[in-house]
Amino acid sequence: MSFRKDFVWGGATASYQVEGAAYEDGKGLNIWDVFCKDGGHTYENHTGDVACDQYHRYKEDVALMKEMGLGAYRFSLSWARILPEGTGKVNPKGLAYYDNLINALLDKGIEPYITLYHWDLPYELHKRGGWLNPESPKWFYEYAKVVAEHFSDRVTNFFTLNEPQCTVGLGYQTGEHAPGLRVGAADYFRIWHNVLMAHGRAAEALREFSVRDVKIGMAPCGALYMPATDAPEDIEAARKATFGLMNPTIGDCSWDVALCCDPVYLGQYPEDILTQFGQFFPKVTPEEMALISRPLDFYGQNIYNAVTVKADENGNPVRVKRRAGFPQTAMSWPVTPECLYWAPKFLYERYRKPFFVTENGMASHDWIGLDGKVHDSSRVDFMHRYLRELRRAAEDGVDVRGYFAWSVMDNFEWAYGYSERFGMVYVDYETQERTLKDSAYFYRDVIAVNGENL
Ligand code: BGC
Repeated sequence: MSFRKDFVWGGATASYQVEGAAYEDGKGLNIWDVFCKDGGHTYENHTGDVACDQYHRYKEDVALMKEMGLGAYRFSLSWARILPEGTGKVNPKGLAYYDNLINALLDKGIEPYITLYHWDLPYELHKRGGWLNPESPKWFYEYAKVVAEHFSDRVTNFFTLNEPQCTVGLGYQTGEHAPGLRVGAADYFRIWHNVLMAHGRAAEALREFSVRDVKIGMAPCGALYMPATDAPEDIEAARKATFGLMNPTIGDCSWDVALCCDPVYLGQYPEDILTQFGQFFPKVTPEEMALISRPLDFYGQNIYNAVTVKADENGNPVRVKRRAGFPQTAMSWPVTPECLYWAPKFLYERYRKPFFVTENGMASHDWIGLDGKVHDSSRVDFMHRYLRELRRAAEDGVDVRGYFAWSVMDNFEWAYGYSERFGMVYVDYETQERTLKDSAYFYRDVIAVNGENL
């Protein structure tokens, strides 16, 4: 057995990272537009003003995706392009852009997977308190309604939120991401609760206003763990670490898988979080929990790496030191292919939903060689190793439905600006010329045989 016959081979991007056209055709400002302009938050004060200019070059990009053999494209919508003020007036040109993109994809046989929110909150809503405002779930509902009514005739698959962990943790706790705030503990958990309710409200709107049956999921991230050995106690320790609070600090909470996913998929906040931080938690009603845990169709997870743990004498997880000279990416993220076996396995055991890897990939310092090609051999090896592990998970009974490589193309890497490249397509930001890297051809060959060559 290998990957399912209908396995979804995709690639992903996000609006602010690729679209550009930040001030065109009636788009409203979002928190990243403003954050980047502040200065001091991104590498060399880079902004997403132009990014990959996908707004004007989507046809070329879709053609490249076709050349790579992608079966699906996961992209996010810019909320402020559709509703410039976040609520109220709809911008027809914003809708038209996504109509064109979606139609171009469908025309080439590429299935669109829409992410509603990949971190670019309309600035007008930020001025009203952003995710701290108790109205924020309602705002998100209104936006999701517009999306459902307009696109569900052609789009079947939706993700509500991308990595709420980063929205809350990096946006409001460390301040590394827009809006760059550092709120106190009570606001921090209030924001978590609002964001999760917003997810629930969006799921509600998508079900209610779509003209056809749609499939809904989420694309969270989180700290993942894998066992040092196959000994049952190490495996159990890794499982415990994956779903438990490893350090009782608010900073660590942001990456706690269970804080985000237990409420959504199991209908309850985790005990360890409530015990540790109950005093800061908002009052949660059963109706709110029911809203947050509205049934979803699949489980998505962005997976890049995991920490290795083993069991101590009491069965508790302890981190195993990385070996000297461990493999790492350009951004110093460890290369840990087995995480694509263990994370899907643990997450599937707990949440029991068809599973998608909604992002996976690596940064490498690529350039165009003298031969005119981009030899990103480390990315080819990375994908090869990770995908073999994902196949092993599928063979072991995890219901793996698809894989989205991050990213289709080099793009604006948030605080790192354009200094880091995650794409399978190289982008020259001066000329906007695109070049397929070796990894794009590698992926094309994998897709062509449904992973049989891995
Ligand atoms: C995010 C992407 C980001 C990627 C690499 C994920 O956290 O969803 O937007 O570019 O990782 O850092």
